[in-house]
Amino acid sequence: MIPPAFIDDLLARTDIVDIIEGRVALKKTGQNYSGLCPFHQEKSPSFSVSQEKQFYYCFGCQASGSALKFLMEFERLDFVSAVESLAGRLGLAVPNDRSPSDQQATQKRKATFDVLEEAKEFYKQQLKDHPQRQRAVEYLKGRGLTGQIAAKFEIGYAPPGWQHLLSGQSENEAKVNQLLSAGLIVDQKAEGKRYDRFRDRVMFPIRDLRGRTIAFGGRVIGDGKPKYLNSPETEVFHKGQELYGLYEARKSSNKLARLLVVEGYMDVVALAQNGITFAVATLGTATSDDHIQRMYRVVSEIVFCFDGDGAGLRAAWKALLTVLPHLSDGRSARFMFLPAGEDPDSLVRRVGSQKFFELIDQAQSVSDWLFTKLTHDLTEQGIDAQDIAGKAALSNKAMPLINLMPDGVFRQLMIDALSEATGLATERLKDVTVQYEPSIEPSAPPQIPSGQDVDYSDVPDYLEPDHDNLPLAIDPALAMLILQPELAFVFPEADYEILMQNEQDQLIKEIALGVYAEQLGSPGEILAKYARQSEQRYIKKAFEYKPLLAKEHLKDEFIGRMQKKIHAYQKRSAEGQISHLLSKAPSALTEAERILLRNHFARQSSS
Ligand code: UTP
Ligand code: MN
Repeated sequence: MIPPAFIDDLLARTDIVDIIEGRVALKKTGQNYSGLCPFHQEKSPSFSVSQEKQFYYCFGCQASGSALKFLMEFERLDFVSAVESLAGRLGLAVPNDRSPSDQQATQKRKATFDVLEEAKEFYKQQLKDHPQRQRAVEYLKGRGLTGQIAAKFEIGYAPPGWQHLLSGQSENEAKVNQLLSAGLIVDQKAEGKRYDRFRDRVMFPIRDLRGRTIAFGGRVIGDGKPKYLNSPETEVFHKGQELYGLYEARKSSNKLARLLVVEGYMDVVALAQNGITFAVATLGTATSDDHIQRMYRVVSEIVFCFDGDGAGLRAAWKALLTVLPHLSDGRSARFMFLPAGEDPDSLVRRVGSQKFFELIDQAQSVSDWLFTKLTHDLTEQGIDAQDIAGKAALSNKAMPLINLMPDGVFRQLMIDALSEATGLATERLKDVTVQYEPSIEPSAPPQIPSGQDVDYSDVPDYLEPDHDNLPLAIDPALAMLILQPELAFVFPEADYEILMQNEQDQLIKEIALGVYAEQLGSPGEILAKYARQSEQRYIKKAFEYKPLLAKEHLKDEFIGRMQKKIHAYQKRSAEGQISHLLSKAPSALTEAERILLRNHFARQSSS
């Protein structure tokens, strides 16, 4: 525990611009600094640093935070190391206010990590030195792995025999206890025997995000049972949360965009051998919420990879249900199915990495997989998803699932896709969901019949209405334009000229025309321009809007919304013009006006 006051003090004495400037080239733009975002690939700067707020924000990937967070993400440091680094700059020592029992627990954890590290080194050394090492080496070679990739994953060899880790230690009680808490030795109390857990196996160290070894998976060489032996749950290893290969994937690229979730240790390593360095494996368990949270902290896209057989399909469905609640805007998930009888290891070795990359790129989207599966289930039940009853059944099944998703553009796109598949109006579908567009008027509080107790126990806090802070509804078109100003170019200037009905439309007009005039080009410039004006509240709201859909989707969404808007204005302005012409004396009409009127009457009589 580092005292929070120390961290506050540290941040108060640190200027975020100093921290970032040394690592990212920054340019002063208005009140803020901007540069190319170090956390995603980009050509034009959308990374912005506010000196005033001591905060960074990327309009492209939504990375944001304080100097501390920046150091953690950029240098890939854990919290404590980042604090130490900031403190070091200022020549301060990090205090720790641990109680003696806390300190003891920390020391014990540290000893566990140390003994795991030693074991990892020992196994690695055995792969180099042990008289029987050749069996393990041949096995790894036979599976297509080079020494280089084995080194990257720090693969080792646990030699045959029962007492390697314990040898010479039996008198050293502390050491024996450490080996026990690390799960490296087995304590068979009944017979009073203790022996090495891993024997004659190829060893895969499992590491946490800081690179510390927390457990091992050991593969039998050749056939034998169990095929993989894993460390038991220990205080540093929780199987249901860990992802094999995550540390290595992160280390291999500082602009990691996606992760590929596979089943096995060997799949991860074989993929890395073939240049696919972003695979991780759940350790023989189904993908959990913890896994998903952990991955979305690192990347915005997860591609799940499954066998094409029945078990694979069931697992993929389960993964879909698990991931849906995590799919806020900006995140995506896709589903890849392998040909029957293949796993990623065998497939990548058979077809090569280029083809494998193509297969990843062809993975199904969330909506494709959801509708494919539901339609398939209906067909199994003898229901034709194409007829009316089938479409009703499809929407009844799909809507509750879509409702698992957090509010946002992504969810709306799913509803649109369902609407398209069923021919049911989006509005009808939304009857069973929460309104997507926040209304400007606060909705009336629910009427509670008097004399009746209401159970609020399962109402989350954040649903409590905040009366002082009524929501300001941001027009999604405006938000998208602010976050991605180059969208302005999809409509000609003249289309924006006619927008005037309300503040937000006027703002769309001003910003779009500003983009055309090359006065505005980035979200930061827009922010700077409106910094001192009442419109600033819209800009701020837009920043919270977080539409990190794939760019193609955003553009379509923007076009759709703007087209509706522009048509409404055009219609209105045409109507206004006609009534103006009708009030004019016929002799005062110009040739052009006469043609306009004639066309108007022609349209009227034909409709
Ligand atoms: P698989 O049985 O699919 O093995 O188990 P694999 O990954 O293809 O292994 P190779 O290619 O034969 O070497 C998938 C994963 O399930 C866990 C492991 O994490 C394994 O990688 N598993 C499997 C175990 O933990 N224990 C086992 O006995 C088998
Ligand atoms: Mn395999």
